[in-house]
Amino acid sequence: MARGPFDTLVDAARFGFDAADHKPLLEAWQALSLADIRSDLAERLIAAGIDEGGDEARFLLNHVLAPASLAQALADPALFSWQQAERLAALSWRRLQRVPLSQVLGSQPFWTLDLAVTADVLTPRADTETLVEAVLSEAGVDAARLVDLGTGSGAILLALLSERPGWNGLGVDLSDSALIVASGNAERCGLANRARFLQGRWGAGLADASADILVSNPPYIVADVLAGLAPEVRDHEPALALDGGADGLDAYREIIRDLPRLLVPGGLFALEIGYDQGAAVSALAQASGLVGIAVKADLAGHDRVVIGRRSGGDR
Ligand SMILES: C[S@@+](CC[C@H](N)C(=O)[O-])C[C@H]1O[C@@H](n2cnc3c(N)ncnc32)[C@H](O)[C@@H]1O
Repeated sequence: MARGPFDTLVDAARFGFDAADHKPLLEAWQALSLADIRSDLAERLIAAGIDEGGDEARFLLNHVLAPASLAQALADPALFSWQQAERLAALSWRRLQRVPLSQVLGSQPFWTLDLAVTADVLTPRADTETLVEAVLSEAGVDAARLVDLGTGSGAILLALLSERPGWNGLGVDLSDSALIVASGNAERCGLANRARFLQGRWGAGLADASADILVSNPPYIVADVLAGLAPEVRDHEPALALDGGADGLDAYREIIRDLPRLLVPGGLFALEIGYDQGAAVSALAQASGLVGIAVKADLAGHDRVVIGRRSGGDR
């Protein structure tokens, strides 16, 4: 692809420029209209292997133009300043390096929440909302102690707490840096008064019968498959959040073995799974003496959640 003024913008953001005069950036910027910038950026994103380059160019522009929208700025070019062009160039440069859009923008919508995302956490996926829905449809509304093992950004924990004002939640993660993001998200969502966080290995630091409801989206990708993933995932998301070991089931073995101890009698569990793991994870749950085991599919029809209970209780 021929180099044009937009490349000069991106190069200026990449290599820095003399803050005293901003000359290269200003010259490149003055040679472009907003419509040119939009189509040029879309083309460049697509050429970098990002299929949704058109949509992403719009997201990036809306992000730097806020509170004005892209549509408003196209109608009134005065709404787009060269400082915004500089910011756009810096963000575009990162995205062209295949840094995930959520990390470039710094946040990602999940459920009804807008969560901060950094390179220390898995970007919350729309598929994971299947787990949130499954728990809400199985659990009552009474006061409950919710535990989320491998909480990452806090996505599942916070989505559930946002729907159930009577619940209190504990998010556990091995990663200290993920827990900083999760507790920031609890503040950001106004849920910090009902969310606690604990560093540790799955449920090892938790007392017997400490969960009425236990959820987890553990790492479940087969180790050999990791190298073939998209660069956004392979190079920019934490391996600790992805690598499920030789058969993808390492974390499930550890978590499920401990579920009868962690749950109260009759307590509910829900685990996110890979599309082909329903039978294997259900068998692990059965072998651990758990009951009422069912597999739920996501909107695409793929198996996505294994749900069940500890026996006993009156539920
Ligand atoms: C697939 S991510 C899920 C993140 C978040 N719950 C979500 O659904 O978006 C798995 C999480 O488990 C954490 N993790 C990995 N191994 C762990 C372990 N042994 N004990 C606790 N957490 C662990 C990772 O740091 C990561 O945050």
